[in-house]
Amino acid sequence: MCTRPHIVVVGSSNTDMVVQVARIPRPGETILGGAFTMAAGGKGANQAVAAARAGANVTFVARVGDDLFGRKALEGFQADGIDVQHVTRDRQAASGVALIQVARNGQNSIAVAAGANGRLSPDDVRAAEGAIRSASIVLCQLEVPLETVAETVRIASKVGVPVLLNPAPAPEQALEASLTAAISYLTPNETEAAQLAGGDGSGRTERTEADDSEAAAQRLREAGAGTVIVTLGAAGALVASPEGVARIAGFRVEPVDTTGAGDVFNGVLAVALAERRALADAVRFACAAAAISVTRLGAQPSIPHRAEIEAFLASQTQA
Ligand code: RIB
Repeated sequence: MCTRPHIVVVGSSNTDMVVQVARIPRPGETILGGAFTMAAGGKGANQAVAAARAGANVTFVARVGDDLFGRKALEGFQADGIDVQHVTRDRQAASGVALIQVARNGQNSIAVAAGANGRLSPDDVRAAEGAIRSASIVLCQLEVPLETVAETVRIASKVGVPVLLNPAPAPEQALEASLTAAISYLTPNETEAAQLAGGDGSGRTERTEADDSEAAAQRLREAGAGTVIVTLGAAGALVASPEGVARIAGFRVEPVDTTGAGDVFNGVLAVALAERRALADAVRFACAAAAISVTRLGAQPSIPHRAEIEAFLASQTQA
């Protein structure tokens, strides 16, 4: 890599309150958990940090509250070298908070109080048009208002910058056709792919999951998305592009906490694509980063730096 690519991330920032539990409690049930930890999170912020640690110059467009959590979040972004001139400190709303339970098998459940994230506006994005113009790629998720994401996509399309949309959390309704058609890279997980493509993502058997993901990816491509990459957790990813469908194998690791693994995948994928790596190679690089992240607790604390991703991949090749 000769020069660091410039990536703009538009999205959320949260403080994660994490309790480790033996298993995720059922509705109405109280269980005694283990250690409590607080860590920086939020899908947008996690992706911004992942991209920065993987080697990009990152501009983050976000809103935090004018409170302790907001100040801490800003300090964290700056420590990772992220350009925060478009991170607004909002006096009308508190910083976003996520309540997270992490089970012994690494799975989690998350409830988010959006706070200031819910006030990230199309005007905030218009104020960052200059940064978007000079970016190699723009990265968005759906933890901020959809109209803000739509404005981001509109501006990026107008100035010819590709958009990577990670449709998480899954929207209640299908995305508008004009929005889908302007997305260069759409990166749902299996459930999100099924929901976006018109299914509900439930009731599937082991045997048909892969076929369902491929069918959903193809439907999303028919709806206009350029390349659809369905993340499959430990199983890697399914890539549906104009060149056809390919499966990229995942990496076998001992999971501690899967929180933010999808975000790491997206942030690192954006960097690899901005560096013009071949698509399969870019997806493998992103899968490696996500695999490392699940071996550690917490969203942003678990995000690897580039050297670690490269060392991990080298060790896999030698194994
Ligand atoms: O994707 C993981 C993230 O989802 C967490 O960091 C939490 O803040 C929620 O936004």
